Amino acid sequence: MSKRVAVVTGSNKGIGLAIVRALCKNFDGDVFVTARDEGRGQQAIKDLEKENLHPKFHQLDVTSKESIGKLKEFLEKNYGGLDVLVNNAGMAFKSNSTAPFSEQAEVSLACNYFGTVDVCDALFPLLRPHSRVVHVASRAGTMALGYMGKELAKKFRSSTLTQSELNALMNQFVSDVKAGHHKANGWPDWAYGTSKLGAIALTAVQFRAMAGDSREDILINCCCPGLVATDMFPKGSKTPDQGAETPAYLAMLPVNTGKPQGEFLGEKKVIPWLTDGAGMSFKPL
Ligand SMILES: NC(=O)c1ccc[n+]([C@@H]2O[C@H](COP(=O)([O-])OP(=O)(O)OC[C@H]3O[C@@H](n4cnc5c(N)ncnc54)[C@H](OP(=O)(O)O)[C@@H]3O)[C@@H](O)[C@H]2O)c1
Repeated sequence: MSKRVAVVTGSNKGIGLAIVRALCKNFDGDVFVTARDEGRGQQAIKDLEKENLHPKFHQLDVTSKESIGKLKEFLEKNYGGLDVLVNNAGMAFKSNSTAPFSEQAEVSLACNYFGTVDVCDALFPLLRPHSRVVHVASRAGTMALGYMGKELAKKFRSSTLTQSELNALMNQFVSDVKAGHHKANGWPDWAYGTSKLGAIALTAVQFRAMAGDSREDILINCCCPGLVATDMFPKGSKTPDQGAETPAYLAMLPVNTGKPQGEFLGEKKVIPWLTDGAGMSFKPL
């Protein structure tokens, strides 16, 4: 049987690096740091080696289909599949950013939503039975729902939403922002929150799609790591290792636990978000 393998996107620093650390200690197989910049990725490997941990490295820019394709090819050739995928790579404009909102919308969604979609579309065919998939989303996503027009919010919560409909909604946000009428169409003034709502809704969509899959016991969940002190959010109260606890827990759910499945979690507990008004009592980043 091929060796088991785990991949964490955007793991050269912050929460992603801490997820790799947790997996190196507890996952029975090879663990991959991936980074868009080879130098930053190799430095992360060296740092973890000083802790006597031995992850491997592969380049991955989630906004490049070419880069994603090379990782897929590598995994196929060397492992014949994939057992754990943690979609952690993400970005956020600082609150004092002077970048136009149209740029913030396009860039945030390209990395945080469409990057995750493209990685999943490429790597899901490699998932073996008992695989675990985790999207590192944020409570900012459920907050964004609360700021949305009711009709629009209903579309994100729909139990029949498909991936192509969700992609279209995400593209609509960017085009509405560019056209200057996103607020009139019910969107919040919040690119990061909208991108993370996309990742949360994607989890439910993928779970439904996976229901008809012949591979047994594949669990797909997303989570909020909490407010974590990293380059993205230096004022966070948790350490990256604390922020990694819920994603690592989801990445290593024991065989045949059955649940959680298709859920959004924080502090290892399911956060209900599909009901109007649920899961929103949290201040945004
Ligand atoms: N910190 C928090 O309080 C908090 C709260 C809720 C959710 N989150 C989420 O947790 C995840 C990790 O965030 P963090 O706080 O650890 O932030 P971070 O320290 O800024 O780390 C972000 C990671 O994503 C990588 N990345 C960015 N764009 C990428 C791309 N196109 N392709 C591949 N990797 C890319 C970064 O690589 P570079 O070094 O090359 O930039 C870095 O490794 C994100 O998804 C974030 O939205 C964080």
